[in-house]
Amino acid sequence: MEDVPEHIAIIMDGNGRWAKSRFLNKAAGHRAGAQALRRLAVDAEKMGVKILTVYAFSTENWKRPQDEVDTLMELIHDYIQQYIDDSKKNDMRICLIGDLTRLSDELQRKIADLQEMTSNKKGLRIVIALNYGGRDDITRAARKLAADVRGGRTTLNEIDEKMFASYLDTKDLPDPDLLIRTSGEMRISNFLLWQTAYSEMYFCDKLWPDFTIKDLEKAISQYRRRDRRYGGRNE
Ligand code: IPE
Ligand code: IPE
Ligand code: MG
Repeated sequence: MEDVPEHIAIIMDGNGRWAKSRFLNKAAGHRAGAQALRRLAVDAEKMGVKILTVYAFSTENWKRPQDEVDTLMELIHDYIQQYIDDSKKNDMRICLIGDLTRLSDELQRKIADLQEMTSNKKGLRIVIALNYGGRDDITRAARKLAADVRGGRTTLNEIDEKMFASYLDTKDLPDPDLLIRTSGEMRISNFLLWQTAYSEMYFCDKLWPDFTIKDLEKAISQYRRRDRRYGGRNE
């Protein structure tokens, strides 16, 4: 495929409603959602996408009932383990963004292992946003930057957008070209607030576990028809 967005970000929403419509519990919905991501990553890589950033758990998702949070954390744990096992045979590079310090020590260790084991891979880059919030990302960046100014490692005059972005979790990533949100909701829900300043938005009604390569192709073909101007003029 030509003119494929290099970096696609996805708000994988609708697991709960998917489960409900099938009279299943929430865990089954989240499990189906995790499988949908595994499939889509393979498809996206074949299509030529370079980076896939996915919203797995927001800083606000802790507000959910404790049993759902526990289930999600267990699933994420299994999922990370599965990626560790898969990494022996595939070429995907996986990293995580978000405030990982709130996760269990064991999960933090597993994540560190996974990032380390895949750091030299050359295939699709999967960025998993876990306990991620756009405002939290910016706030943590501001705190680190303030500490650097106070410590004399940088000065106020050196602060500009590029420099500030280097303090964000996404420091070594280009901004997303395309942001997809499933399940019919048309909001950002505190995802990559800084980074999506000029991303193209695509909303679709499909619930995340039902999202397939066909839906990705639809999103990309719409993206291709967009005229990205970044505030300038293209004629
Ligand atoms: C998205 O699915 C997954 C997470 C937020 C972890 P939801 O669980 O939000 O699904 P709905 O919105 O209730 O259908
Ligand atoms: C956003 O979905 C977070 C993830 C997909 C991980 P939510 O379901 O939490 O968002 P709201 O509550 O509908 O805005
Ligand atoms: Mg939701």
